[in-house]
Amino acid sequence: MQSSLNDLLDCAIEAARAAGSHATENPYRRTDIDSSTAHDIKLHLDRECQEIATEVILSRFPDHNILGEEDSPEAVNSKSEIGNQKSSLEWVIDPIDGTVNFFHGLPLWCSSVAVRLKGESLAGAVFAPESDLLYTATTECASTVNGEPIHVSEIDRVDEAMLLTGLNLKKDGDVSVFDTVRMLSETFRKTRILGSAALDMCRVASGQAEAYWEAGIYTWDIAAAELIVRQAGGRTCVIEQLGEPHRVSFMATNDRLHGAFRDLLKASAQG
Ligand code: IPD
Repeated sequence: MQSSLNDLLDCAIEAARAAGSHATENPYRRTDIDSSTAHDIKLHLDRECQEIATEVILSRFPDHNILGEEDSPEAVNSKSEIGNQKSSLEWVIDPIDGTVNFFHGLPLWCSSVAVRLKGESLAGAVFAPESDLLYTATTECASTVNGEPIHVSEIDRVDEAMLLTGLNLKKDGDVSVFDTVRMLSETFRKTRILGSAALDMCRVASGQAEAYWEAGIYTWDIAAAELIVRQAGGRTCVIEQLGEPHRVSFMATNDRLHGAFRDLLKASAQG
């Protein structure tokens, strides 16, 4: 590979820091909304932060591809057609993961940047500016937070474990997410909904929770953090590709709970 993993990780860190810092430097613009749907919003700052992360990446790797949360599918396609020397490397950006938290002034959000080859993350950085936490990993080094190694927990019983999840209201499948969350909440010791999938997964990687699951989540929410979970000793799994591009049903665990949790989800899917 032409670029070393360290170069790629440095760039992911710089891009995630630049995006997150731009958001925190503009606190009075956090409520400037571009568009909204029933349960979601798009902010001006989302777009600006993605542009800033993209500039950082393209200034170092001008021929690499970019996939960002704020791109329309048309924009993603037209970007990948620019030039004829496109690299096989793709950068995946979530400029503000936990947008609704950010909008409300809750500090639980982050900027996430990963670089992938054929859909596999090679390096990733997740930066949570308001708690000053920077999570990183590459395929060849262990996960860290602020430079210190992190590891998943050793809890191996679901009834002693913490589950982090999000409420997917998009109706991707037949089973009601509420039925599944209810069953899981009655099984795990505690279930929490904290509002940033990337940070949830970094908490699994850090041993602060044992499992993360969402019935519907986008590639940009998980691309960096899934590598961080695996390089911290955990396990991740796409349960199902959903109809919408870049959307999957997904789980991440501390590994020890993986089989038991997967069985619970299978049982729930069968009704
Ligand atoms: C959202 C957050 C949230 C999760 C949603 C995501 P966004 O990402 O990660 O925790 O439950 O499924 O879409 O929109 O804030 O980047």
